Amino acid sequence: MNNLIKKCLLISSGGDAPGMNAAIRAVVRSAISHGITVDGSIGGFSGILEGHVKPLSKRSVGNIIQTGGTILKTARCEAFKRLEVRKKAIEFIKQQGYESILVLGGNGSFLGAAALGEEANIPTIGIPCTIDNDIVGSDYSIGFDTACNTALSAIDNIRDTAFSHNQNFIIEVMGRSSGFIAVEVGIAGGAEIILIPEFPVNIDQLNARVKQQNANKATSIIVMAEGSEPGKSVSIAQDIHKATQVEYKVCVLGHTQRGGSPTVKDRLMASMMGVQAVEALISGQTNQMVAGHQGTIILTPFPDESHSTRTFTNKQLLETNNILCDI
Ligand code: F6P
Repeated sequence: MNNLIKKCLLISSGGDAPGMNAAIRAVVRSAISHGITVDGSIGGFSGILEGHVKPLSKRSVGNIIQTGGTILKTARCEAFKRLEVRKKAIEFIKQQGYESILVLGGNGSFLGAAALGEEANIPTIGIPCTIDNDIVGSDYSIGFDTACNTALSAIDNIRDTAFSHNQNFIIEVMGRSSGFIAVEVGIAGGAEIILIPEFPVNIDQLNARVKQQNANKATSIIVMAEGSEPGKSVSIAQDIHKATQVEYKVCVLGHTQRGGSPTVKDRLMASMMGVQAVEALISGQTNQMVAGHQGTIILTPFPDESHSTRTFTNKQLLETNNILCDI
C-alpha cells in the first residue's frame, strides 16, 4: 500500500487511439490495488473546466479491454493553452483533493499536462496514445499498431479490386506531421510509391516514377500520409493525370483508422504502460511519461514544447521499398 497518493484524476485527451480503454482499465485496477481512488475527467481537459468527473471502480472498467475509443470521451481543448483557463482547472483540482494526474494522449495533450502538473505542483504522468506514433521520447504510442492493421486490411481489399480492374489507386492514410503509418502499411501492403511529409517528392519526380511503374505494371498503389492537408490525394491524382494521362482512383481512409478493437500489441502495451504509470506516481515521479524504448517501457520527461513531434527519419527504409517494388 502506498502512503503518498490517495486520489488521482485520469484524463484521456486529444485524438482517441485504440487501446486507450485498455490503458484506463490498467490504471484504475492497478491504482485501486495500491489504495488510490481514481476519478475520470469526462471529455478530456474540458471535463475539469466543467467539473464533469466521475469515480471509476474496478468493476466500471470491466469489458472494455477489447473496445476502441475511450469510455472517458476525449477532446482537443484549445482553451487549455491559456494560463487563466488552467488556473480555473487547478482550482477545481485542489478543491476536489486530487493529489496526482494521469493523462492519456499525444503531443498537444502532454503540453497541457506538463503545464498543469507544474503550475498545480501535482505529480503528473503521461501515457502516450496516438495512432500517429509521433511523440518525441517514445518509440511507441498506443493505437499505432491497430491503426496500421486497419489501414493494411483496407489496402489489401483495394488491391483485390485494383488487380481485377487493372486500376491504380492512391490510398491516403492518417499522420498529421509524420509518415510512420504510411511507411509501415506502404511496405506491408506492397505499395509502389510511399509519400510522407518528412521526405517530400516534387510533382515532376512523382510523375516520372508513376510513368516508370505504369510502363511495367497493370496496377499500382501509392500510399500517402495525409500530412497537414487531409484530402490532398484527390488533387495529387488530378495533377498526375494531367501530366501523365495515368488515372489514379483515390481512397481516403481517414477516421476508420482511429477506431476499432485494439490489436494484441496495443492491449499489451496499454496494460503495461498503465501499470507503470501508476507505479511512477507512487514512487514520487512527476512531469514524466512512460515511453516505449527498444522493446521496453521506461520513464522519460515530457517532450519539450519546441520539439514535441517525432518524425520519420529512416530514408533507407523508403529506398528499400523502391527496390522491393521494382520489376
Ligand atoms: O490523432 C492523430 C490524428 O488522427 C492525425 O493522424 C489526424 O491528422 C488528426 O488526428 C485528425 O484529427 P481530428 O480528430 O481533429 O479530425
